[in-house]
Amino acid sequence: MSAVALVAATTLCFSASAGESSFESWLSFQRDQSRAGMMANISPRGTALGVVVASPSRDNPDYYYHWIRDAALVMGSVMSLAENSAATKEQMSLEDLMWDYVRLSRRNQTTPNRSGGLGEPKFDVDGSAFDGDWGRPQNDGPALRAITLIRFARHLERQGRLTPQLRAQLYQAELPARSVIKADLEYVAHNWRDKSFDLWEEVYGQHFYTRMVQRRALLDGADFAEFYSDSEAAAFYRDQAKALEQEISKHWDSQAGYVRITRDSDSQDHRKPSDLDVGVVLGALHGGRNDGFFDLGSDKILATAEKIRASFERIYGINQNSSAATAIGRYPEDTYDGYSTKGTGNAWVLATNAYAELHYSLAALIKQRGSFTVTARNLPFLKALNSPFAKILSVGQKFTKGQSEFTALLGSLHDQGDAYLARVRKHANPDGSLSEQMNRDTGYMQGAPNLTWSHASFLTAILAR
Ligand code: NOJ
Ligand code: NOJ
Repeated sequence: MSAVALVAATTLCFSASAGESSFESWLSFQRDQSRAGMMANISPRGTALGVVVASPSRDNPDYYYHWIRDAALVMGSVMSLAENSAATKEQMSLEDLMWDYVRLSRRNQTTPNRSGGLGEPKFDVDGSAFDGDWGRPQNDGPALRAITLIRFARHLERQGRLTPQLRAQLYQAELPARSVIKADLEYVAHNWRDKSFDLWEEVYGQHFYTRMVQRRALLDGADFAEFYSDSEAAAFYRDQAKALEQEISKHWDSQAGYVRITRDSDSQDHRKPSDLDVGVVLGALHGGRNDGFFDLGSDKILATAEKIRASFERIYGINQNSSAATAIGRYPEDTYDGYSTKGTGNAWVLATNAYAELHYSLAALIKQRGSFTVTARNLPFLKALNSPFAKILSVGQKFTKGQSEFTALLGSLHDQGDAYLARVRKHANPDGSLSEQMNRDTGYMQGAPNLTWSHASFLTAILAR
């Protein structure tokens, strides 16, 4: 290869030296690729401003839509970038993207659609309603959008860039709600009791994931309303969150020893006898408030995370005789192969990234709390950590800040997070593009190419690191 060609090849991909290069340099390579991959899918040419396409793929599968859930999570990653940026100029260009998203979101809220409300799951890329058949409503959407937009408002407030006029676009106490955050909070507060389709758009029922993000939206919303002297609304949101907590707690199955993803389901077509679903871990990640209620430190969440992991270790070929961390899918009974539901389910990039983020964020949470107790429920999760220290743990041990065991625990969690990212590295395309899935037997990328959520979940995982 000529020198020029070599330079061209190495700027395009990590290829040649990927094997030997250090994990750290891969992380920064993939960070740049994921950032570019994500940004390319925000308001791409020919779409309405503020649109986040789920993937550039328009055919097999057609993911060229603005999904409320994907968009809220992706713009949540944009917020993470803004919050972590020291450069005002960079911050302000990220804020511009957020304002486009705010305006599109308000348009989505007010566009008549087949859900007849804010639970409509996706819109066409020109911002108009999607009128095909779909699993609707999906009530995690408005909650996720409120969580992301409240973060945005808080950020602007901290930066001193939230003028009263701008603030009025985001939140006003008036009813009926005409501001975007208020409309979402009112929707969640009045409709959380209703069944809806789950985050995988398959099952109609009551879902742990949906309920966790609804609870967080209500509590984040209550704090936010309080801040703007909307105290009656704050009290109402808090009451609703309390009532919702009663229902969320019922997802814990003490006999089985894990949190069940769905209750009261109506659909027969996507049977999940196990009820094990990575949506529980995502619920703790996206809906946890670090207040002890099914947050990442909860031993019920850790017990469930380990049962889910073990289920994928058993059934995916790529997880056999492998020293890399377990590749994680949606749920063991999954038949969606990225193109049709007549296949076999695979590992998902966003699910495996979520396990990395779980380990990093758990380490941070324990560090902040200053102590950790081994329980019968969290012990199996700890024993699955790939470290000699973890193998000798036993129930009842308590570690506190300052002890070498405490430091060893944090180190083991951190290393395990790295092992999950190393798993993604193993299957990522050499040019850093990430699809939706990793084939369960070959490991090759499969399904929607450059899934925006795959990239966004990589970015939030490394920020947690
Ligand atoms: C596309 C959905 O987004 C996916 O989650 C689902 O498995 C298939 N359709 C089949 O319902
Ligand atoms: C399928 C996933 O199941 C769903 O969660 C997602 O919203 C859509 N694909 C679009 O990415």
